[in-house]
Amino acid sequence: RRVLVVNGPNLDLLGRREPGIYGHDTLADLVERCRRTAADLGLEVDARQSNHEGVLIDAVHEAMTDHGGVIINPGGYTHTSVALRDALAALPVPVVEVHLSNVHAREAFRSHSYVSPVVTAVIAGAGVTGYDLALRFLAERIVRQA
Ligand code: DQA
Repeated sequence: RRVLVVNGPNLDLLGRREPGIYGHDTLADLVERCRRTAADLGLEVDARQSNHEGVLIDAVHEAMTDHGGVIINPGGYTHTSVALRDALAALPVPVVEVHLSNVHAREAFRSHSYVSPVVTAVIAGAGVTGYDLALRFLAERIVRQA
């Protein structure tokens, strides 16, 4: 019943970074919100953020053994990282890819995700609510697996 929430590069700047696109909540606000939503669903959250590709991959590896599901916003690595995709493809648990913004309504390069083909579900454009939706999905999935 433990879920890993991974946020990638530049998401440490949430609240200050292009707030018109990414909103005013900080990363700390987002993590706190995830913890509260998770608690309501009977889940626990482990939260990780890094600006470094290899550190994110190490974080994903934790879920090989320690978590029932993963929520990941890979930030810019969504559009570039084969290595992160391979790490996610290795996981035996459901994975939800979340983007705060609607990546399909922005620059063309954001429409392609290396990650989407290997994850269970994708949520984009719902802002921080997307993390709540992902937790709700995982709560149902994890119950079903148990
Ligand atoms: C993002 C969208 C990406 O294209 C961008 O590089 C980000 C954030 C989002 O949450 O909307 O860093 O993943």
